[in-house]
Amino acid sequence: MDHFAHPRNVGEIENADGVGTVGNAKCGDIMKMFLKIDDGVITDVKFKTFGCGAAIATSSIATEMIKGSKIDEALSLTNAAVVDALGGLPAVKIHCSVLAEEAVKSAIADYYTKQGVDYKTIPGLE
Ligand code: FES
Ligand code: FES
Repeated sequence: MDHFAHPRNVGEIENADGVGTVGNAKCGDIMKMFLKIDDGVITDVKFKTFGCGAAIATSSIATEMIKGSKIDEALSLTNAAVVDALGGLPAVKIHCSVLAEEAVKSAIADYYTKQGVDYKTIPGLE
């Protein structure tokens, strides 16, 4: 509830190194994530979520979990870890946490594409 009422890292990063947009076909919610990456470390992360309270809370906590971490650590972030960090979510809201995991991965994939690297060769993004 705290992450829904007071979400962290809301906004956009200009000239982001990686941007990922994912949507949930079931509910129509959309999550956009922006990454600043220096020397393999995620130095800044912001998000914009047009969606339910659980989607906002999961994106908020996911940004806190990956900020300052290395790319490969961020790639190992699972939706289950996001749910745990929030202290649990109702079963019908689990798909909202999947959106957060996918948004992180999609933004990192975009980062690799911008670097001229085929992201499908990166463990965790295959
Ligand atoms: Fe928007 Fe219910 S889906 S109010
Ligand atoms: Fe769709 Fe939460 S209800 S992301």
